[in-house]
Amino acid sequence: MVVAIAESAPVRSTFTKTRAGKALVRRFVAGDTLAEAIEAAQKLNRQGMKVSLDLLGEEVNSPVEVEAALASYVACLEEMAASSIDGNVSIKLTQLGLAFDPDLARATLDRLADSAARLGLTVTIDMEDSTHTGETVDIYADAQPRHGNLGLALQAYLYRTPDDLLRLMPLGGHLRLCKGAYVEPEAVAFQSTSEVDAAFARLLNVLMGYEEVTPAVATHDPQLIDLARQLNHQRRQPFEFQMLYGVRPQAQVELAAAGYPIRIYVPYGSRWYPYLVRRLAERPANLGFFLRALVSR
Ligand code: FDA
Repeated sequence: MVVAIAESAPVRSTFTKTRAGKALVRRFVAGDTLAEAIEAAQKLNRQGMKVSLDLLGEEVNSPVEVEAALASYVACLEEMAASSIDGNVSIKLTQLGLAFDPDLARATLDRLADSAARLGLTVTIDMEDSTHTGETVDIYADAQPRHGNLGLALQAYLYRTPDDLLRLMPLGGHLRLCKGAYVEPEAVAFQSTSEVDAAFARLLNVLMGYEEVTPAVATHDPQLIDLARQLNHQRRQPFEFQMLYGVRPQAQVELAAAGYPIRIYVPYGSRWYPYLVRRLAERPANLGFFLRALVSR
């Protein structure tokens, strides 16, 4: 429902044309340019938080666009190293061609992982909708043992994730556990909030109990954050919390102040629309605030 409203042409144009729309975009997206993302990253670093920079743009349909995405990510990694940013990059395999040429996506990931390794940096692969899950897991399982500087997001709402987790944990790297942000059918994913939360808790127990991988606990949910804190008492190796730029910023500062490692996912770039729609769908109140701000102008 929220996705349908947000994707309708009149609502879409108000995000770009009104002050309330632009403010909403700026809450969740650091800026259109790499320079703005670096500035946001520096600010977060100063507050004791690491970052993961995400160049937005998932509708990639040609090798030319893949090459452009790779060049932008390499430029991002180089700028991060030059500016001594404490962080890494997050990518989507569809940006590297997964939707039309999986071999190209594999080869491009190899090139990106090599560039990151030369700079001493890591790359996290986001998990997209379930039509891409199998290939994404397979590509990661092939690439991580060869490169060693990769990580992958896994979605608690998918029925297959417990098996993926057991397969991938022995590969080391970092595994980001999130609830899952796409609209998925009942055939592949839990539908209710309580089922998704319970699945997240079960997976978190497994992940935090495995010392050879770095768990990234990617949630803003206070109960799951508390669970991770409890599980950390038995853990010897590091883990980190991860949150999204603009979501519960006060909680981000508090976790950092309490001494927990925390990384903020910082999206940037001009192709922000699908990302914004996912943030609105997670919390329909965001769309309500925006629509009220529009009519009260
Ligand atoms: P939940 O949705 O229950 O939110 C808990 C509380 O957080 C809410 O009550 C509210 O206070 C606040 N909150 C959450 N979302 C908000 C929003 N949009 N606006 C305002 N407040 C909000 N998904 C995916 O499918 N693939 C991926 O690769 C990633 N990667 C990723 C990285 C990182 C660092 C994070 C934090 C999340 C992702 N996600 C993701 C998104 C994830 O799957 C999920 O959709 C969101 O994190 C929202 O779920 P929560 O766990 O925060 O819980």
